[in-house]
Amino acid sequence: MMKDFLAIADHSPDEIRHLLELAVKLKSEHQKGGNKPILKGKALAMVFQKPSLRTRVSFEMGMQHLGGHALYIGPQEIGLGQRESIADVARVLDGYVEGIMARVFAHQHVLELAKWAEKPVINGLSDYNHPCQGLADALTIYEHYKAKIKGLKVVFVGDGNNVAVSLMHVCAKLGMNFVCANPEGYDIVSSAVELGKKFAKESGSTIELLHDPLMAVEGADVIYTDTWTSMGQEEETKKREAVFPPYQVNAALLKKAKPTAVVMHCLPAHRGQEITDEVADGPQSLLFPQAHNRLHAQKAILVELMG
Ligand code: CP
Ligand code: NVA
Repeated sequence: MMKDFLAIADHSPDEIRHLLELAVKLKSEHQKGGNKPILKGKALAMVFQKPSLRTRVSFEMGMQHLGGHALYIGPQEIGLGQRESIADVARVLDGYVEGIMARVFAHQHVLELAKWAEKPVINGLSDYNHPCQGLADALTIYEHYKAKIKGLKVVFVGDGNNVAVSLMHVCAKLGMNFVCANPEGYDIVSSAVELGKKFAKESGSTIELLHDPLMAVEGADVIYTDTWTSMGQEEETKKREAVFPPYQVNAALLKKAKPTAVVMHCLPAHRGQEITDEVADGPQSLLFPQAHNRLHAQKAILVELMG
């Protein structure tokens, strides 16, 4: 295991499988009465440049379950790279805490934190990717399909964004076939696709990039969507709302997938836009188990990096 958890792409399939198995074990221990205090006396600094519900609460509770402590540091406090340089923030936090989790705008900022910090750095979302989400997504698929995930068809419908990058990479690493259906001009960044294709080749899986959502979801085992407008892109909201409606995950789209298909969304959802209530709250939805798995997947990361 590496010092940091910054991208799914940095970790081997064996490391990812190990994290999944550890997450399953920690989840079962937690449900049977509680985890061992593996991180007793240890602290995690949580640096947030953007809002959060899941990432913030799941990391904080995860640290608590493992006997440690988490500190929330909001956007007004550090002013990462503004009030103080990232290199200085990293070296100061090094003397106070045993790990740093950061949610940033520019991916470069989390890379820079990791470069300067001697303690482990975890990426809690950047404009490029969302690896903690990707790991929790893999855990959710792994549990639902009882570990038989090789060869599953996972279709991401919507914006080729940070969540799509981590999902693509985790699928490619673990041998799931990944399809992205997005409007023209909203593609997954090409460098991430190149990496994904390399991982897919190594695991014997495929990556397909399409623009037709109905064609994309044919025979899907998993349909995944996310917001049309990510944090930091708010000024494009109107423009995006005009382009994305054909990519809504609704009952008609779901009908094209396998009858056994499940629906996923990293949340927060914009109900009535990228997903309908009918689907989000329907029998094929995994939205809430998926959100809850953030806790268990991240505990595995914390134990691995800080334990
Ligand atoms: N999915 C996710 O990261 O949610 P938050 O933005 O609420 O943390
Ligand atoms: N793509 C979304 C994910 C939120 C968890 C964003 O970056 O805002």
